[in-house]
Amino acid sequence: MCTLGCLAGQPLKSLETAARIVAADCPDCQLPGSIKGSQAILRGMPADVDALVLSNDRLSEAYNVVKLAAPAIAAAVRPGQFVMVREDHAGAPLLRRPFSVFEILRDAAGEPTGFSLLNKQVGVVTRALYALEPGAHLQCLGPLGQPFSVAAPSGAAWMVAGGVGLAPFATLAEALRAQGTPATLFYGGRSVRDLYYAGWFERLGVRVVLATEDGSRGEAGLITAPLQRELAALPAATELMIHACGPTGMMRAVAQLAQALGRSTEVSLEPVMGCGLGGCYSCVVPVRTGPQAAASQLVRSCLHGPVFPGDRVVWNELAPAH
Ligand SMILES: Cc1cc2nc3c(=O)[nH]c(=O)nc-3n(C[C@H](O)[C@H](O)[C@H](O)COP(=O)(O)OP(=O)(O)OC[C@H]3O[C@@H](n4cnc5c(N)ncnc54)[C@H](O)[C@@H]3O)c2cc1C
Ligand code: FES
Repeated sequence: MCTLGCLAGQPLKSLETAARIVAADCPDCQLPGSIKGSQAILRGMPADVDALVLSNDRLSEAYNVVKLAAPAIAAAVRPGQFVMVREDHAGAPLLRRPFSVFEILRDAAGEPTGFSLLNKQVGVVTRALYALEPGAHLQCLGPLGQPFSVAAPSGAAWMVAGGVGLAPFATLAEALRAQGTPATLFYGGRSVRDLYYAGWFERLGVRVVLATEDGSRGEAGLITAPLQRELAALPAATELMIHACGPTGMMRAVAQLAQALGRSTEVSLEPVMGCGLGGCYSCVVPVRTGPQAAASQLVRSCLHGPVFPGDRVVWNELAPAH
């Protein structure tokens, strides 16, 4: 059985188990991150931090940005990684919830001091995050998961975000800028009330293309329309990596558009996650065992993702909640 098979069939019980899995060669498993997930745990142990809430900026009735003091996580995080979060008081849900690290906060010398979360209210914990006041604390475990790749300056990176799917792209945009890679953000939502921080990305030098379904900001319609136009017009010789995060339908459309034109994608999936550490299997997603393979396997998103090559996800088998 390949390493991924071993992982899938046997919960990661301890770091000792992880060490044995990493030490083993994987002769046949071609899945991205099949070994990397365990290595990430071993190499970069996530920090469990009692983070002070510095501010809570309520952007609308649904969205807010919480800034947290957490230098250990901020210093370690890579683009697209996430944290598992819970409030630490009696009555708070036992299980943590996953959130992308949004902005990295820095002091005057540029040293990382913390990070923010871009939150959209959908249930118990996201409502609690919306209601947080400065001075409160949040338990944050991270950074976790496989990061986005960062395209070389000779190519280009396009980020496609739907609503709160913008969150993992702040760290990616900073990494692209640091590397000098030209970046574009295609950012769509139902209305202007779903689009925030476009100016933040523009200030980083990112070209921003906006679309809203009701036409209240940017082009009227789905963000995949300008994406499709620009993809069709892009010279074949231009190296391009497309990254997508947002509703499943949007990510699927992006992956399929790109695949039809021979372009690579990375999608950041958002399944329900119970632990974030590979122990509960609540986050499994179906992924093809090779780019052209018909066979698929269920892999844990928290270890092997949340970032996956778009052409490896078996879109029609994803659970409805994704
Ligand atoms: C890697 C990752 C990164 C994420 N980053 C962000 C982020 O930056 N900002 C953000 O606002 N959200 C993010 N999410 C989604 C966020 O984790 C969920 O919205 C959150 O867990 C819901 O918790 P709750 O207690 O508010 O909802 P609950 O009370 O647990 O559930 C309320 C309702 O929401 C549904 N629900 C819960 N989780 C999900 C989910 N993952 N997908 C679809 N429906 C769900 C439930 O089925 C239920 O109907 C991310 C998810 C993942 C996996
Ligand atoms: S195995 Fe628990 S969230 Fe992935």
